[in-house]
Amino acid sequence: MTSKPLAVSLALATLTLSTTFSLQPDQHKVLLVSFDGFRWDYLYKVPTPHFHYMMKSGVHVKQVSNIFITKTYPNHYTMVTGLFAESHGIVANDMFDPILNKSFSLDHMNIYDSEFWEEATPIWITNQRAGHATGSAMWPGTDVKIHKSFATHYMPYNESVSFEDRVAKIIEWFTAEKPINLGLLYWEDPDDMGHHLGPDSPLMGPVIADIDDKLGYLIQMLKKAKLWNVVNLIITSDHGMTQCSEDRVIELDQYLDKDHYTLIDQSPVAAILPKEGKFDEVYEALADAHPNLTVYKKEEIPKRWHYTRNERIQPIIAVADEGWYILQNKSDDFLLGNHGYDNALAEMHPIFLAHGPAFRKNFTKEAMNSTDLYPLLCHLLNITAMPHNGSFRNVQDLLRSAAPKAIPYTQTTTLLLGTDKPGAYEQEESYPYFIGVSLGIMIVIVFFVIFIKHFIPSQVPALQDRQAEIAQPLLQA
Ligand SMILES: *[C@@H]1O[C@H](CO)[C@@H](O)[C@H](O)[C@H]1NC(C)=O
Ligand SMILES: *[C@@H]1O[C@H](CO)[C@@H](O)[C@H](O)[C@H]1NC(C)=O
Ligand SMILES: *[C@@H]1O[C@H](CO)[C@@H](O)[C@H](O)[C@H]1NC(C)=O
Ligand SMILES: *[C@@H]1O[C@H](CO)[C@@H](O)[C@H](O)[C@H]1NC(C)=O
Ligand SMILES: *[C@@H]1O[C@H](CO)[C@@H](O)[C@H](O)[C@H]1NC(C)=O
Ligand SMILES: *[C@@H]1O[C@H](CO)[C@@H](O)[C@H](O)[C@H]1NC(C)=O
Ligand SMILES: *[C@@H]1O[C@H](CO)[C@@H](O)[C@H](O)[C@H]1NC(C)=O
Ligand SMILES: *[C@@H]1O[C@H](CO)[C@@H](O)[C@H](O)[C@H]1NC(C)=O
Ligand SMILES: [Zn+2]
Repeated sequence: MTSKPLAVSLALATLTLSTTFSLQPDQHKVLLVSFDGFRWDYLYKVPTPHFHYMMKSGVHVKQVSNIFITKTYPNHYTMVTGLFAESHGIVANDMFDPILNKSFSLDHMNIYDSEFWEEATPIWITNQRAGHATGSAMWPGTDVKIHKSFATHYMPYNESVSFEDRVAKIIEWFTAEKPINLGLLYWEDPDDMGHHLGPDSPLMGPVIADIDDKLGYLIQMLKKAKLWNVVNLIITSDHGMTQCSEDRVIELDQYLDKDHYTLIDQSPVAAILPKEGKFDEVYEALADAHPNLTVYKKEEIPKRWHYTRNERIQPIIAVADEGWYILQNKSDDFLLGNHGYDNALAEMHPIFLAHGPAFRKNFTKEAMNSTDLYPLLCHLLNITAMPHNGSFRNVQDLLRSAAPKAIPYTQTTTLLLGTDKPGAYEQEESYPYFIGVSLGIMIVIVFFVIFIKHFIPSQVPALQDRQAEIAQPLLQA
């Protein structure tokens, strides 16, 4: 009878310690999914029950500020490096590197040149260096040899492979004998259809509903494989989409002599490389050419875009206003929807939802930067982050307090910019802090028990009951 309070206090202390320390290795699993071009507000265009189910049982960030330029490759590389484009080196979908004297172009699928990717180290490489395995179903860059490695398991890019086949591979890798801890899944829509139809088209409704069905399928497969409550699932995207029109076209041929420059990237951010000795001529001709085109010399590009310090950023960039389209001439391809515009525009913003053992439930956050996803992923995987431009502290509130802890990379640039208070990193997730708290709780309980036992024996039965009640909710948590 007298041992009951002690047993209860021991149980409490053990529970405190176990929630702090004995996290299952399973809790470090992450599946990152990108539905290309899924604009943040598509969630509300048509019923999206599976997305809403994830919001209720997980977290949702309403406004995600992605990086300039708001194109596919630059943003996918930011998600897995935490770097701005000027620092990770994938500055556009179409690039020219004057030092390498090489081009990178999605149209010709000559994206497999390692040198373009090696200004950064993507998370799958860091994960593998830490002894883990990664599996990727078509995530951009995972089938390219980067710093001498590919993703542990990957599917060579082939847009004809169905969503179901990609999911099957991911499930297979998570449940293999030597399972992956990081899965990466990429799907081309709603970007493809968004470009063809334009986001304002009523025909986009069924396209979005189809993505919701695909998410439903993924959830169903994860549940079937008993992974739903084990894997931290993050659903996001690279950028949004805006409506274009043939009434809003800027034709470069009307202002510039074709022989004076090379057009490296077209719309909505024209990357212009003037021919030898033609810089001033090209700049002058374009600077005031069109009210909906803003022309920058490289060194004048707004600081907030973090889009200057890279050889692959051309000497002149011309940025179209939202919904305007830059063409060399009218015989070039024109699409009804496009992206790539200023990342401050809401229509360029992607979605962000997450569910899993590390995440809070039914929690909505107003805003985050897409550069913060990388430190969040490193934290979830318990790997040490490479230098990056994000901040783990800015997204920490998405997690349950007892989520797995890792030692984050201390970011000097953020400290210099004054966005984080100096010294704030010391309070962040130190094990001594948790040991202190746990031991403190234990000592208080033990003393409490001894006090009860020795000084007020007459009240012991009543207090025993109360302690048992106190223990109940904790045991259920
Ligand atoms: C760059 O490569 C092209 C062929 O792609 C070649 O004609 C040219 O001479 C090269 N330029 C330099 C500076 O090496
Ligand atoms: C791409 O995938 C499709 C569908 O699975 C397949 O039929 C085709 O052979 C694949 N193409 C290549 C180049 O592997
Ligand atoms: C295009 O330029 C006109 C004239 O300056 C301006 O009124 C309009 O707002 C611009 N369009 C956009 C989308 O910014
Ligand atoms: C438009 O530009 C393309 C590529 O530079 C060129 O082949 C074509 O002749 C041009 N068309 C017109 C109408 O100028
Ligand atoms: C989720 O949160 C909202 C607002 O915070 C609340 O109204 C709703 O009842 C919650 N739903 C569940 C299932 O907890
Ligand atoms: C995004 O990053 C900027 C610059 O570091 C910072 O000022 C801003 O507060 C961040 N936004 C959010 C929502 O965390
Ligand atoms: C995180 O990784 C370190 C090794 O880098 C390991 O010592 C530690 O136990 C891991 N933490 C958890 C909670 O798994
Ligand atoms: C982004 O991070 C990289 C790597 O730490 C750093 O070199 C660069 O200066 C950072 N950029 C900004 C704008 O802070
Ligand atoms: Zn995209």
